[in-house]
Amino acid sequence: MNPEELIKTAFQALIHAHAPYSAYKVGAALLCDDGTVFTGCNVENASYGLTNCAERTAIFAAVAAGRRAFKAIAIAASKEPVPYPCGACRQVMAEFCGPDFPVYIAKGDGFETATLGELLPHSFDFEVSDD
Ligand code: THU
Repeated sequence: MNPEELIKTAFQALIHAHAPYSAYKVGAALLCDDGTVFTGCNVENASYGLTNCAERTAIFAAVAAGRRAFKAIAIAASKEPVPYPCGACRQVMAEFCGPDFPVYIAKGDGFETATLGELLPHSFDFEVSDD
């Protein structure tokens, strides 16, 4: 799937957003290394802080389905502003993806491309220990 198709899939995913508080619907489409695509949308909550962003919804759905290797992610929103991923989503991407991981962000009639390394330099990393 090419970047344009991934952006289109992200737009389709935002239809399912639960965003009664912000009225800002976001969709994400995550391309796995095996070619499968997982989608996500933002899921808000009356207790605002419990909201899950579209990007994390897609990543968690893919991981829950047994995927760990990802090629790219596309993000689209129902209106302005441009949906640059929040800091929490960038850190969650860094859990599974390297600095060259492409992030396609819908903007106007097209999209902008950034790498995860550009979006989140110096991500937090933790060595697994036996303790
Ligand atoms: N949101 C996302 O789902 N992804 C982004 O990249 C930016 C923000 C959501 C969270 C919340 O439901 C709404 O957009 C407004 O912040």
